Amino acid sequence: MPVITCIDDLKRLHKKRTPKMFYDYAESGSYTEQTFRENTSDFAQLRLRQKVAVDMSGRSTASTMIGEDVAMPVALAPVGLTGMQHADGEILAAKAAEKMGVPFTLSTMSICSIEDVAEHTTKPFWFQVYTLKDDDFMNRLFERARAAKCSAIVITVDLQIMGQRHKDLKNGLSAPPKLTPQSIANMMTKVQWGLGMLQTKRRFFGNIVGHAKGVSDPSSLSSWTAEAFDESLDWKRIAKFKEMWGGKVILKGVMDAEDARNALAVGADAIVVSNHGGRQLDGALSSIRALPSIVDAVGDKIEVHMDSGIRSGQDVLKALSLGAKGTYVGRAFVNGLGAMGEAGVTKSLEVIQKELITTMGLVGERTINDLGRHNLLIPKGFEGDWVD
Ligand SMILES: Cc1cc2nc3c(=O)[nH]c(=O)nc-3n(C[C@H](O)[C@H](O)[C@H](O)COP(=O)(O)O)c2cc1C
Repeated sequence: MPVITCIDDLKRLHKKRTPKMFYDYAESGSYTEQTFRENTSDFAQLRLRQKVAVDMSGRSTASTMIGEDVAMPVALAPVGLTGMQHADGEILAAKAAEKMGVPFTLSTMSICSIEDVAEHTTKPFWFQVYTLKDDDFMNRLFERARAAKCSAIVITVDLQIMGQRHKDLKNGLSAPPKLTPQSIANMMTKVQWGLGMLQTKRRFFGNIVGHAKGVSDPSSLSSWTAEAFDESLDWKRIAKFKEMWGGKVILKGVMDAEDARNALAVGADAIVVSNHGGRQLDGALSSIRALPSIVDAVGDKIEVHMDSGIRSGQDVLKALSLGAKGTYVGRAFVNGLGAMGEAGVTKSLEVIQKELITTMGLVGERTINDLGRHNLLIPKGFEGDWVD
């Protein structure tokens, strides 16, 4: 195994080993990619307050998210097409998460199905749903998630329509990949990836094909997605989804204090401050900048989680210090998966955990609960001084 010291090392291997179409799908944001870039660069604006001569022995990253014990408050975010980054990608990532003791979230748009992941894991995972028009299909998804013993539903509320990612259009992104002279030439250089794909039967959208009405073969999927997403979504409908599911609900994609209060009013168990990794509203604030005002608005009444831009344990520590009770990583674990399959996901989580526990010591804290704004040097105007 090559020496891996940070997430960037995994990213370089991911790029080398995975077809361009799928690497680009992960490593891009919508339109100008401003929000995608600022999600990571704004973390660097926050500095850490160094403390010395503080007893740092016996440190632990253990915590809880929505009442579940976690080895560190870092969950795997729902990522569509994970099974195209590496054969059986969702199963491998879920297994790595389970062994590490962190939550795994399966995307509706996964390649491996809910049942596939349940069959290969022993602990409950979380299932992410989009807010679709078809109640029958939503009910069936909830039933399948219940049968698979999922312990929470993550409802993604920031994708009723899709932001455009230029590279996906240029690459002709599809699952399975369309065979064009360019894509064939590129895939021929990704031998391990290709062998894995030949050996698995999981190459289509496992939660949808054969389950959604009128989608029995993958070629009709694009028309299904165009029709299935609900532009008329409102808070009443979100409350209805909560009722249909009947269990714990996490609302993902909240970037505004007023929306956070609405999420509280519909009875969500947690919210995720997220701009979808910069893949939806280009020009939105970075998540780390949006976090403090949302924590101030609802943080004492509902668990506030955060994602978008986390590439290190230091980033996790900064989000927790600003008041997040949990975080998620998307690309950071996908880089590991594309680089080295399950071992790569494990490596990415180990890298983050090691960075987190080391940084906790250097800022003088022993437990996750002790972290707070006192651990940070926050530049004046970090949240932005915007005209009302
Ligand atoms: C390749 C890719 C696919 C994604 N697919 C989904 C998805 O199916 N559902 C969803 O709610 N979020 C999806 N997201 C957003 C992630 O859940 C998460 O919000 C984002 O990756 C966090 O940013 P980060 O990648 O900088 O950690 C996706 C993100 C990426 C990078």
